[in-house]
Formats: sequence, C-alpha cells, structure tokens
Amino acid sequence: MSALADKAVEYCRDLAQCTEEPGRITRTFLSPPMHDVHRMLGAWMLQLGMDVSIDAAGNLRGVRAGAPRGRLIIGSHLDTVPDAGAFDGILGVVLGMTLVEALGNSPSAPTIEVIGFSEEEGVRFGVPFIGSRSVAGTPGEDVLTPAVLDAIRDFGLDPANLPAARLSIETTAYLEFHIEQGPVLENLDLPLGIVDAIAGQSRLALTFHGRANHAGTTPMSLRRDALTAASEWICHVETIAAAAPGLVATAGSISVEPNATNVIPGVARVSLDVRHANDEARHAAVAELLDAAARICARRDISLCHERRLDQSAVAMSPELRHTLAAAVEAAGYPVHHMTSGAGHDAMILAPHLPAAMLFLRSPGGVSHHPDESVLVKDVDAAIEAGLRFIHSV
Ligand code: GLV
Ligand code: MN
Ligand code: MN
Repeated sequence: MSALADKAVEYCRDLAQCTEEPGRITRTFLSPPMHDVHRMLGAWMLQLGMDVSIDAAGNLRGVRAGAPRGRLIIGSHLDTVPDAGAFDGILGVVLGMTLVEALGNSPSAPTIEVIGFSEEEGVRFGVPFIGSRSVAGTPGEDVLTPAVLDAIRDFGLDPANLPAARLSIETTAYLEFHIEQGPVLENLDLPLGIVDAIAGQSRLALTFHGRANHAGTTPMSLRRDALTAASEWICHVETIAAAAPGLVATAGSISVEPNATNVIPGVARVSLDVRHANDEARHAAVAELLDAAARICARRDISLCHERRLDQSAVAMSPELRHTLAAAVEAAGYPVHHMTSGAGHDAMILAPHLPAAMLFLRSPGGVSHHPDESVLVKDVDAAIEAGLRFIHSV
C-alpha cells in the first residue's frame, strides 16, 4: 500500500498550492482557491467513477455506489487556518479518496460518500463547522449570517438549496481520519490513535472600549486605554486556564483601533477560545473569564461587550464504531490506543446524528496549525490498512 500512502501525502502537498496568499497556505471558507481544490479532487472522484457534486454549503461530495448495506461517509474539511500546514483536514479527505481507489471494483464494500467539508476552522466569519453543520441539517442563524449567505452566492451557489445538503437517509456511519495535531502519539511511539471523545469548545469575541487620545499629552493617570485593559485580561486568561486541570483557553486574535504608534488605543477586539472535555467545567471557566474581564474593565473605566460565537458540547464517538475501528487497527497489525481529542473536528457535528468514529495519525513534533505540520508516509500507510478493514466491517 505504501505507493498509495506516498501518493496521498504528495497529493496533500499539491493541494496546498491552492491558497489565498502566495507563499503561505491559507484557504478560508469558499475563497477563490477552493474552486481549484474542488476541481482537483472532483477530477479524481470522476476518474474513480464516483458521482460528484458540490452542495449549497460548498461541500465537495463524491459517492461510490457499493453493496446495499447503508452508506459510510468518510470526510474532513478543506479549509485551513492562516499560514497553515498541508494536512489538517484535507488529509482526511484525501485518505477517503485513497481508500476508494484502493477498493477498486470490490463489490463487498458499502456505498461510500467522500465529503470535503467547505469550512471547519471558523476563520473567515468567526463561526466554525459551516460545512458539516449544513450536512447535519443544523446550520442555524448563527451560522447562516448574511455575510455567509453572500459568500455562498459569490461562490456561485444558491443558499435556497441548503436543505438538500443534508446527509442522505441511507447514511449509516461517519469516519474521519485526521492528524492528531498534538504530541501524544509521537511520545508513545504509536502511528494511530482511536478517538473516544472530542472536547467541547466555546468561542467568544470581546470588545474593550476605552477612549483614543494623544499619546504625548495624556497623563498616565487620565487614560482609558482599551489595549492595556485587554492585555491585563489576556494574562488572566492564561493564569486561570493554567490553574484548572484539563482546561485550555486562548486569546488568539486581537485588533486595535486606531492602531497607531502615537494614539492611545480606543478599542481592542479580542477572541477567546475555551476547551474542556467536561462541558460544565468549560461553562464555569467562560463565566469566570468574563467576570475577570468585567472586574478589570470596571477598575480601568473601560466598557466591555462580548458576543458568544460558539458553544459546542463535548461529544463521544460511537462505542460500536470505536470497537470496530480498534479491531481494524489491530487486524492491520498496529497497537490500539484510545484518546481524547482537544481539537474540534467535523466528527463532533455529525456524531449526534449518526454513529461516528475518528482515527488519528501521529503528528511529527506535535505540530499543527503551522506550516511545519507534517505526517509520516508509514503512518498514512497504517491508516489506509486500518481504513480498508474498517470499511469491510461496517
Ligand atoms: C480546529 O482546528 C480547532 O480549532 O480545533
Ligand atoms: Mn484546524
Ligand atoms: Mn482539522
């Protein structure tokens, strides 16, 4: 199989050329390079005799008809974070295609639908999972904002067709391959990991409003600096998260107005991403972090507002499919290791609607959301071997 594994890794690197920013891999929801990704993967689907379509959420879908025992979706996302690596998300789609290629004309496999979800990262509009939530049939108004609907139209699709994006009723299972994006498998010297559950996540946008004023004439005691208030709070975020077992919290994006050297910042907008395997602990942490922001702002005479962008519960993978996947990994000759995912994945959106499973591949150096992200061909080979056995067992 290693020729197929080589090809999968090379193909991911080729697809990484489809980017909004020359010299960096950045491909957000329905941005122009997504057309190129659709063209390349769609051509491969057609070559393998699959029935190819792009739904109204911009998800690329290819169906390989198989034995009449339901339909297995193999999917992951096609979008990236800014300055990304070449494997987060898209490797799962390429592995789905690789498995279809490896199956050839095998009549015993079930029908397989490979889906390249249009959006999972939440970069372009601050709301993640637009693609998989459309397939799950749950894209609420928080997802389908006027800006998202415009982006769908600009891409040449019609939002009126979104209801048809919903997964086929014959679908019986969902499988997602993904790089681990962390150091656990590498530290254990293991190629693969079976995901038992995916941590929940909250995303918020906070705006600190102070007053812009002259940097040379305004005494320190008379300032209402939005950025220093935000900075004090960001340090609190780190302290609070570090003290709570299992909690991770990140202020990953900040913008300042008017953003000039000689002007005291009048506005600071900061994103907050909070994750925990336990939803109550996550909700309590969000409340504590917002309280801390309110206290800091009151002391500094700064006004604060926040918007909740995502409250995604932790999700368990299907016990039956975890078992089937573990058996497939073992039969392929690899050790079985179960783990929790700290990263969010499309699987967490599909899991409430049908049995879902996820297989992690070791991330060299534990690096992801970074151009150095990589994967080992031998681990891709292991995933193909396990994937083929899984397909024949569902
Ligand atoms: C997706 O990459 C996430 O933010 O977990
Ligand atoms: Mn990602
Ligand atoms: Mn991902």
